[in-house]
Amino acid sequence: MQVSITVNGERVSHDVEPRQLLVHFLRETLDLTGTHWGCDTSNCGACVVQMDGEPVKSCTILTAMCEGHEIRTVEDLEIDGRLDPVQQGFHERHALQCGFCTPGMLMTARALLDENPNPTDDEIRTAISGAICRCTGYKNIVSAVRWAAEQEARA
Ligand code: FES
Ligand code: FES
Repeated sequence: MQVSITVNGERVSHDVEPRQLLVHFLRETLDLTGTHWGCDTSNCGACVVQMDGEPVKSCTILTAMCEGHEIRTVEDLEIDGRLDPVQQGFHERHALQCGFCTPGMLMTARALLDENPNPTDDEIRTAISGAICRCTGYKNIVSAVRWAAEQEARA
């Protein structure tokens, strides 16, 4: 079936299998491999992208369901060589080790700050509660999101 989706600001049209998951469309058809594919069972959160500004697990959505919608992936965070504040925050606060969970964490954090520019640590923890990190213990991830919120408040 034919689908037209806006991905990172560009309209793309492709013939896809009705059963194809969005994560596979992004990674294999569009070569946007920044979105990670971890569990395929909706548990890990490594595959989170934004759909119309809301964080969604791209392993739980069919490509066909995205017809006419806007998808944003981690590749869209850096603009003209400038890191998004959430990316910068992860760097500043050492919020990653292996990095496998990081794309999903970043897109979840970006969606949170777009909706709530000054979240409490509890609100940050709730926002990332659908994502698993095996390395960091989450403390530095919360700190990184807080760092980004503070940077954006000053800008
Ligand atoms: Fe989607 Fe793990 S791959 S939640
Ligand atoms: Fe390794 Fe999060 S940094 S899983």
